Amino acid sequence: MHKKILPVSLLAIAIIAAVIAGCTTTPASPSSDTQNVTGNANGIESGKTIAVGIEVKYPPYSYIDKDGKPQGFDIESAKWIAEDQGLNIEFRTVEWDGIIPALLAKKIDMVYSGMTITPERAEKVAFSDIYWVTDQGIAVKKNSPLTLDDVMSGKAKIGTQRGSTAEGWIRENLIGKGILDSGKLVLYDNFPFAITDLESGRIDAAMYDTPFVKKNLKGRDLEFLGIVENTEENYAVAVRNEDIELLDMLNTGLKNLKASPKWAELVKKYELE
Ligand code: ARG
Repeated sequence: MHKKILPVSLLAIAIIAAVIAGCTTTPASPSSDTQNVTGNANGIESGKTIAVGIEVKYPPYSYIDKDGKPQGFDIESAKWIAEDQGLNIEFRTVEWDGIIPALLAKKIDMVYSGMTITPERAEKVAFSDIYWVTDQGIAVKKNSPLTLDDVMSGKAKIGTQRGSTAEGWIRENLIGKGILDSGKLVLYDNFPFAITDLESGRIDAAMYDTPFVKKNLKGRDLEFLGIVENTEENYAVAVRNEDIELLDMLNTGLKNLKASPKWAELVKKYELE
C-alpha cells in the first residue's frame, strides 16, 4: 500500500464545510498527525477520511500530550488499525455527553475512546468486538475513614462524569434502589473536576473506570479505595449502524492488533496491567 497526502485544498474545503455545517467537533491534530493512506479494496470510498471521535480527558486511553497531540492506548490502537486496514483517519475531539449524537449526526464516523457497550447505546449505534474489560473504581481522600461498604451503602457524596456508565450504575444500583439520596450524586462535565472537588472535600468519593481513576490519583492526596465488583466495563468502538464495512474492518484490524506484538507493547506502555 502506498501513501498519498490529502491535497491541502481538499482539506481546506473539508474544514470550511465542517464550519458551515455548524460542526462542534474540533480537529484534534494538525494534518501532519493525520494518517493519509489510499482507499481500501473493501468499498469505503477511496481517499475518504474517517473521523475518529475522541474525548481527550481520558488518560491512559485518550488524551492530549505535551505537544498538543492526541495520545493514548486508543489513539495508538486506532492508528495501527488504520494502517493495517488502509483507512485514512483523523482525530476529532468531542465532549463525552455529546459523542453519540455527534456520531449519529455524521460529525464523526466512530467513537474510539474507552466507550463501554451498554444496552441503551447499542440501540443507537453498532459496536465492534470488545477490546478491553475493566471495572468501576472508587477514589477517596488519603486516610479517609470511608470503606468501600460505606460508599456502596449510600454514606458518601459521590462524584462522576455526566453521561458516563458510572453515572448510569449509580442511578440504577444506588439511587434507584433507595440506597443513595439523589442529592448525593454530583455530576461533572469532566472527571478531573470531580478529582478537584474530592481533594477539596466537596465530595467524599469519586467513581469511574478503574484505570482512569488510578491515573488521576498520581501525585495527589487521594487514594484508590477499591473496585466495584461486577460492573464489567466492556470497551468497544462504536460506528453508525449502517457502516457495516467499517465495522468489519475495525474488527479485523482489532484482531490483527491483538495478535501482533504491538498489543503487549501498548498494554505495557499505558500501564494497563
Ligand atoms: N467507559 C465509560 C463510559 O463508557 C467512560 C468512558 C469515558 N471516556 C472518555 N473518553 N471520557 O461511559
